[in-house]
Amino acid sequence: MVEYQHVTDDMSVYRDGTIKLHGPEGFAGMRKAGRLAAEILDALADKVEPGVTTEELDTFVREMMLDAGAVPATLGYRGFTHSCCTSINHVVCHGIPGPKKLKSGDIVNIDVTPLLDGWHGDTSRMFLVGDVPLKARKLVEVTYECLMIGIQQVRPGARLGDIGAAIQAHAESHRYGVVREFCGHGLGRLFHDAPEVVHAARAGTGPELKAGMFMTIEPMINLGRAPVKLLNDGWTAVTRDKSLSAQFEHSIGITEDGCEIFTESPTGRHKPPY
Ligand code: MF3
Ligand code: CO
Ligand code: CO
Repeated sequence: MVEYQHVTDDMSVYRDGTIKLHGPEGFAGMRKAGRLAAEILDALADKVEPGVTTEELDTFVREMMLDAGAVPATLGYRGFTHSCCTSINHVVCHGIPGPKKLKSGDIVNIDVTPLLDGWHGDTSRMFLVGDVPLKARKLVEVTYECLMIGIQQVRPGARLGDIGAAIQAHAESHRYGVVREFCGHGLGRLFHDAPEVVHAARAGTGPELKAGMFMTIEPMINLGRAPVKLLNDGWTAVTRDKSLSAQFEHSIGITEDGCEIFTESPTGRHKPPY
């Protein structure tokens, strides 16, 4: 059985398996955290170029968060020691920033989560490095469409499975693989909370969506087959068949008549080219 809970501020830090229904203070907090997250990705668009290392991008992200009075939610999270995830080419998610330089032709996802005044803004976009082949650009474009088609399903009365069904149908119509091992999630004062938002599902199944729910939608779409494996560092997830993978993520809140995207780019840098 699915349980929902209207949360007051002091209750919303507990991971008790219920789906939290937030009020106006929650929306105000998420709006600020989400805006900062989007501004960081906006600023990264000018930094991502051939020759830059993902470590340098990580430092930039950390400093921009600290300057804004936020902390990187990923820093120290379950032993992760960086301020963002940088997932290049066949890396699906949770790539660890390091000394490797980006090179022309790479596609890279950068995923940031500032924790600002107690609220998490979790968002990621793809970036194109130099000249990227058409096949890769098409994957990035369709993955963005998958995110937005998923978001279009969100309104009170719809079911959680409607999101995954719409994403899966769109991705598979292009013969792409939808990653099953990782999913979107509830969030708010917690980084990862109920429910699990899967990106492949059957329409009409799963919990009913209700106003006040906060969640991420973050489809990972592979140019080849869907299966993923984890590298020995315990974090980096890669496609088993070494095919390219793309991802976009927004944090959203369900309103009376649809949803609010907390992490929308204030400068229109929704997808590349930026
Ligand atoms: N931001 C990721 C998400 O979308 C989580 C990253 S956790 C980390 O849920 F530890 F890998 F950074
Ligand atoms: Co997320
Ligand atoms: Co994220």
